[in-house]
Amino acid sequence: MSFKKDFLWGGATAANQIEGAYDKDGKGLSVTDITTAGSLKAPRMLTYKLNGKLEKTPAVPGAGLPDGATGAIDPDSYYPNHEAIDFYHHYKEDIKMFADMGFKTFRLSIAWTRIFPKGDEEKPNQAGLDFYRKVFKECKKYNIEPLVTISHYEDPLYLSEKYHDWSDRKMIDMYVKYAKVLFEEYKGLVKYWLTFNEINSTLLMLGAFGKHVTDDKTFQHAYQKLHYQFVASAKAVKLAHEIDSNYIVGNMICGILDYPLTPDPEDMLATRHQMEETVLYCGDVQCKGKYPTYSKRLWDAHNVHLDITEEDKKILAEGTVDMYTFSYYMSNVITTHEVKDKASGNFAAGAKNPYLKYSEWGWATDPTGLQYYLEVMYDRYDLPMMVVENGLGAVDKISDDGKIHDDYRIDYLARHIEAMRKAVDDGVDLIGYTTWGCIDCVSAGTGQMSKRYGFIYVDRDDEGKGSLKRMPKDSYYWYKKVIDSNGEDLNELHRE
Ligand code: BG6
Repeated sequence: MSFKKDFLWGGATAANQIEGAYDKDGKGLSVTDITTAGSLKAPRMLTYKLNGKLEKTPAVPGAGLPDGATGAIDPDSYYPNHEAIDFYHHYKEDIKMFADMGFKTFRLSIAWTRIFPKGDEEKPNQAGLDFYRKVFKECKKYNIEPLVTISHYEDPLYLSEKYHDWSDRKMIDMYVKYAKVLFEEYKGLVKYWLTFNEINSTLLMLGAFGKHVTDDKTFQHAYQKLHYQFVASAKAVKLAHEIDSNYIVGNMICGILDYPLTPDPEDMLATRHQMEETVLYCGDVQCKGKYPTYSKRLWDAHNVHLDITEEDKKILAEGTVDMYTFSYYMSNVITTHEVKDKASGNFAAGAKNPYLKYSEWGWATDPTGLQYYLEVMYDRYDLPMMVVENGLGAVDKISDDGKIHDDYRIDYLARHIEAMRKAVDDGVDLIGYTTWGCIDCVSAGTGQMSKRYGFIYVDRDDEGKGSLKRMPKDSYYWYKKVIDSNGEDLNELHRE
């Protein structure tokens, strides 16, 4: 067995991490626009005004501003997403490079604030609509199928302030209005949609093993927010199908696999519960259309009482996704025992796995885990699957010959593609693979440019200096061969 003939090979990005032009052509501010740069050691910060004073708080994906705060830009801070890699003005050049690599698909997201600058306007911003139309047309020119994430970690700042990060049911209508505009506007240009990027990140961050001290109020907010997002996602799926029966809409889960550290049955149970809380809960609701039995245990543990109506339940049942898509970077190890050697990194948690190597940013490289994840999730959901993010964040150096020899990235990707092939062998209906950050971009976790994932190097550093010139790395030529051979030719390094 090997990959399907029409397998969707490609790469993935997100608007706020590549576009730049954060205030151009009518775009409003999104939460990412008030997020500073961080580093391996220092967290990114949200900057805001509270009682007239400029303040900062660590930016955790899915977390909002404190009550009563309004987002603000601090003139003394650096905001890497404001210019990012300026895809806004380089999209033609970048898409051409993807096409030359042989991309069949390109995953990108739409900045909600280009379409609805504040989020609650009646009419969309025409300039924003025009920009994505041009981008999609450019993709189509090369027969590249856009794979579009409707919301990728960038809520409009105004809505986030007004409705305190999805704690109000009104957010559902705001999101559905936005999604409807996209479905109508890009009919015939886009076929594949994803509703929310890594929807489970809210729970992952909370459940990160006491990394963040959390109280019942925080859990109440997280579960309620997720419920509104589930309803918004289900409504969008239903609407998409009504607008165009060819639309294929997926969820997007941060796919982290958990292993028990020991054969202690308590470790086994804790591992299962961890998977349920941080990964399965979201996938189950979006794929099966109802809350799983174990939800009650999760809610009771944190005294959560959901605002959930009969109508909501009906919508969840009617709006199940057409495909299961996920990001895959690492696995974690769970134990009920005391451990000295702990894993660290934004979603990395628990004990260190002695069998795996960790990246400079503390993420465990585990291709076998990808095979396992694909097999288990396919068995659970019986839906077509797509790996929509995977890759190695690493520092790249330009060699004396002026090139970037990123054999570490090639090795990482080759081993994951091999793992996917084994899962396909076992019968998994895998329809696509988009590596993360196919062109270097701003890291979501740290805001660094030096944490690079791309096949294409972009000359820009952590302080925003650089010419923005694009340059293919060795992995560029390698991936071109991979696509050309439909995943058969993984091993040789093809330099040009
Ligand atoms: C995923 C996100 O969690 O991981 C991306 O969907 C992100 O937006 C990617 O960029 C890699 O994480 P990081 O922190 O290395 O950029």
